[in-house]
Amino acid sequence: MLNSIKTNHFEGNASKELGMMYFRVAIILFGAQLLMGLIAAIQFLVPGFLFELFDFSIARMVHINALVVWMLYAMIGATYFLLPDETDVEPIGIGLGKLGFWVLTAAVTVVVLVFIFVQVGAGTEASIWLITEGREYIEAPRWADIGIVVVVLIFYFNVFATFIKSSKKTGIMTVMIANLLALAGLYLAGMFYTDNISMDQFWWWWVIHLWVEATWEVFVGTLAAFALIKLIGAKREVVEMWLWIEVLMLFGSGILGMGHHYFWIGTPEYWWEIGALFSALEPVPLIAMFVHVLYDWGKEQGIAKAKGETGSVITNGPAMAWIVLNAFGNFLGAGIWGFFHTLPQVNIYTHGTQFTAAHGHLSFFGAYATILIGMMYIGVQGAYGAKRMKMNFNSKMGIFLTAFGVMGMTVALTIAGYEQVLVERAELGATWNAFFVAQNLPWYVQGQMWRAIMGVVTLIGFIYLAVDLLTIGKKAQAEEA
Ligand code: HEM
Ligand code: HEM
Ligand SMILES: [Fe+2]
Repeated sequence: MLNSIKTNHFEGNASKELGMMYFRVAIILFGAQLLMGLIAAIQFLVPGFLFELFDFSIARMVHINALVVWMLYAMIGATYFLLPDETDVEPIGIGLGKLGFWVLTAAVTVVVLVFIFVQVGAGTEASIWLITEGREYIEAPRWADIGIVVVVLIFYFNVFATFIKSSKKTGIMTVMIANLLALAGLYLAGMFYTDNISMDQFWWWWVIHLWVEATWEVFVGTLAAFALIKLIGAKREVVEMWLWIEVLMLFGSGILGMGHHYFWIGTPEYWWEIGALFSALEPVPLIAMFVHVLYDWGKEQGIAKAKGETGSVITNGPAMAWIVLNAFGNFLGAGIWGFFHTLPQVNIYTHGTQFTAAHGHLSFFGAYATILIGMMYIGVQGAYGAKRMKMNFNSKMGIFLTAFGVMGMTVALTIAGYEQVLVERAELGATWNAFFVAQNLPWYVQGQMWRAIMGVVTLIGFIYLAVDLLTIGKKAQAEEA
């Protein structure tokens, strides 16, 4: 892959090559994430499975940290990939960027090995620095946090300096520059330590919620805009206009929408009203985004038809399929499954049940995994210099089985959560004992069983996807030759 990038000699090769390096690690971590998820899913059914060898707490932790890290890798990869195209100049600092890549990858490896080999022990000041900070999703110890900040600073400097050097300031790049600064800056909110758990949770949500419901959403907006121009020749004015509208709406609803995490952590009660109102508005921009993708495509096709042409040629079939899936997935996972439990009147029953896990799976997959995989396909196409890449059997199986698997897991977990809400919360009053009673009820147990089965389906889909990403470029190149 690397060689073919070099022989193609298009502008910005080094940056795209670095993007591909990030994509490769991302896909490996995605595979690791799924394996960890399966171990944790089996432990729900057979609690003694790998007990004291590879505990549930560790499998779950590696599962969700790998998720966050692979997505950050894929985002950095996508940025380095689109940078030369959007700026029309040779990106700055790619040599330093490569060094950053290796430092980050070495740090991630060490952190995971420490997670696996040091599973139990006292939580002290030293363990915060060396083992884990214990904050769900961003559990890396502080030494790694500092390393991450340094690597991200290099990354941001490269993107920013390239943007400044270029005379072509596109809307996509302008939004990206501002958004990346917010995205990176928010990470700092999860780094300092306070021994008041309410305060700790308060700041922790600044990272988690303001990432996934504000800055990451804006980021995928910029990717969708870039991809639509690239894949179907959508008009820049149209996609960028939508992008600006979404930025405005996402920051509006997303920031105060954070109140839906402040209902029960010891923050003042006014958060009930603020959280209810603004988080209920959050699906609005997601619907706009959904309409945006489909409307743009339909409009392009309509214009072509009126001119008597066949319509736009999709230059990369698998990427387009994943990006359309993103529009549906974001709308369903974040918009619908999020809205389900966002009002405090509902959340008092659903909080921390399998409902939450159902929403977590569908939203992360639908809103982020999909479009980042789409970007990987665009990356592969660029690396092989293929003018057109069509769907083949592996691409279809990859997208169908992963999407079907995740949707299946979501439905299974929603049913398990429903039983928890009715029995554990409503009927038995959310006592410690009620928690265990609900865990043994038939719908709950069957839900967990179906989740494990659908997890295997997802994993098989992933294998097709990985094989496709490794082979499709060469196939397209051979066809064109
Ligand atoms: C792509 C965007 C989104 C992602 C990736 C996402 C992901 C998640 C995850 C992983 C959790 C569980 C956090 C934990 O471990 O405690 C969560 C919780 C929650 N999400 Fe989202 N979410 C998104 C958007 C939304 C939206 C738009 C809404 C509302 C309309 C929403 C409503 C909620 C609520 C109310 C909770 C708290 C659940 C509880 O009380 O247990 N989410 N979200
Ligand atoms: C092989 C497929 C998968 C299996 C078997 C699986 C299994 C699991 C299990 C057992 C948990 C712990 C749930 C709990 O503590 O109640 C979990 C959590 C989670 N998984 Fe997965 N998972 C899979 C794939 C995925 C994918 C594809 C994504 C997103 C792209 C994802 C995102 C998450 C998130 C965000 C959480 C935390 C949810 C929360 O705190 O509510 N998983 N998963
Ligand atoms: Fe949230």
